[in-house]
Amino acid sequence: MTTDQVAEPFSRGLRMAIEDGHARAQGSVFVEALVEGRLNLAGYTALASQHYFIYTALEAAGEAMAEHPVAGRFVVDGLRRVPALADDLAELIGPDWRDRVEQRPSTAAYVARLTEVAAVSPTAFVAHHYTRYLGDIAGGQVVRAQLRSQHGFTDAGARFYDFSAIAPVPTFRKRYRELLDTAPWSAAERAEVIAEAGTAFDHNVAVLTDLAADLPTFRAA
Ligand code: HEM
Repeated sequence: MTTDQVAEPFSRGLRMAIEDGHARAQGSVFVEALVEGRLNLAGYTALASQHYFIYTALEAAGEAMAEHPVAGRFVVDGLRRVPALADDLAELIGPDWRDRVEQRPSTAAYVARLTEVAAVSPTAFVAHHYTRYLGDIAGGQVVRAQLRSQHGFTDAGARFYDFSAIAPVPTFRKRYRELLDTAPWSAAERAEVIAEAGTAFDHNVAVLTDLAADLPTFRAA
């Protein structure tokens, strides 16, 4: 698809552009095992641990972008996931979780990319912001329901998926799409957002593939 073929409004064009990446992430072996209740707690803990490293980098980039006239509009306090992940990991791993949490090589590569581009490029920042937060707000709710029914987590352990601070979610999503649609980006800048969102999806798929290699250890009893 060339830049002038991106569907309008931009939020729709972006959504269409990520369809393939989304199908790969949602249909990955690890995500399927997770939502079908075939993962034990160690499996979920491994995923939450990767989220911790990814969101630490994303939210550091958010702080760097907070004053930017366009990208800064996307930075919302209620979205912050690092405090929730810290609570979840303390519950899942224990009070010494900071010494025990393990970062996968695929996560280190994702974090390196995020750190390299998202703190300096507003379009790259929005691409990474969109890929993670909108995904966790939508598909994350399926994971949240699974954690509740399979492991009984209603609070600490599954706080990562609690987006009540930005409720009501449909209003938040509508507002987010408006931000995408009204950002004063040129066609080239819109293409940059789309391309970087594709890169973000590739990194997410790589992390999920990395985790899937340990599925035999993560199999629920
Ligand atoms: C449990 C697996 C998943 C399920 C069930 C799922 C489901 C969904 C659904 C139903 C939507 C549409 C929400 C709406 O239209 O309001 C959505 C949107 C989205 N998902 Fe996922 N998803 C999953 C995994 C992921 C993953 C792993 C990522 C990337 C890390 C991701 C990124 C996104 C993004 C960026 C959107 C926003 C699309 C847009 O509205 O512009 N999803 N997801």
